[in-house]
Amino acid sequence: MENRSIVSIADYSREKIQNLLDMAAAFEAKPNRKLLEGKVVATLFFEPSTRTRLSFETAANRLGARVIGFSDPKATSSSKGETLKDTIKMVSNYADVIVMRHYLEGAAQYASEVTDVPIINAGDGSNLHPSQTMLDLYSIYKTQGTLEDLNIFMVGDLKYGRTIHSLLMSMRKYNPKFTFIAPKELEMPEEYKEYCQKNDIHYEERQDFDENTLRDCDILYMTRVQRERFSDLMEYERVKDAYILRADMLGACRENMRILHPLPRVNEIQYDVDDSPHAYYFQQAQNGLYAREALICDVLGIGLEEIMKK
Ligand code: CP
Repeated sequence: MENRSIVSIADYSREKIQNLLDMAAAFEAKPNRKLLEGKVVATLFFEPSTRTRLSFETAANRLGARVIGFSDPKATSSSKGETLKDTIKMVSNYADVIVMRHYLEGAAQYASEVTDVPIINAGDGSNLHPSQTMLDLYSIYKTQGTLEDLNIFMVGDLKYGRTIHSLLMSMRKYNPKFTFIAPKELEMPEEYKEYCQKNDIHYEERQDFDENTLRDCDILYMTRVQRERFSDLMEYERVKDAYILRADMLGACRENMRILHPLPRVNEIQYDVDDSPHAYYFQQAQNGLYAREALICDVLGIGLEEIMKK
């Protein structure tokens, strides 16, 4: 049987993305559709999470599946030295879908190679976060009415930000213009700049971040400087407050500009921004439920037609 794991969505066709957006929209219109009665979804979180784990578990529940899993690997046999391979093989005996977050880059790919049960990558180290990307695409599509020809500003930790890397690659087919704003220590890695060059994706790098900078922006994608990715905490202290968005910086923005953030935030978006009509990060997180219902169905081979019948 074909393994329908979702390790990355970077190579998905426009048709496939559109289909997933339509599925997410169907779930937004009606989240409770008992398509997965009798199925079990496992959520294995080797790294902390609030939104991703809870929205996947809510998605599974709303689809009528049962959920097993863990949010703290210390309470599992991996703390006794069990390998990832053995853990995945064991859980494959119990579950129909495995949603996994892991601190190692490439862990989801590896897991998908040792089991026939579909794996959904819920974030692997600083590599990729495809389910976040799907909800980001859905949020962009909902707010802009299109994914085409948008000015997308990415701000903060562009080095370790897996949501950034995933989104950048998945926008390849939509002629985006990227502006990368990051401190020197956290700038976009060379491999992603080369990816842009190879795929004719326009980008520029800037260090300024003020009212004027944001004039032409359609999507402002803010990110947290991730303390947990630094081995040198002095370096974290130096860069953690490099870019902070305040409400008074939004005066010259396009009316339809929307601020996204994968969350959690620390202090890179001040609380006064939450009341701005440009703020969209909480709705974005809500969209995660619908996007993840779509992804769970997709890995189980359940398409839009079947969804609409329930
Ligand atoms: N956006 C995101 O991945 O959030 P969590 O770490 O809370 O899952």
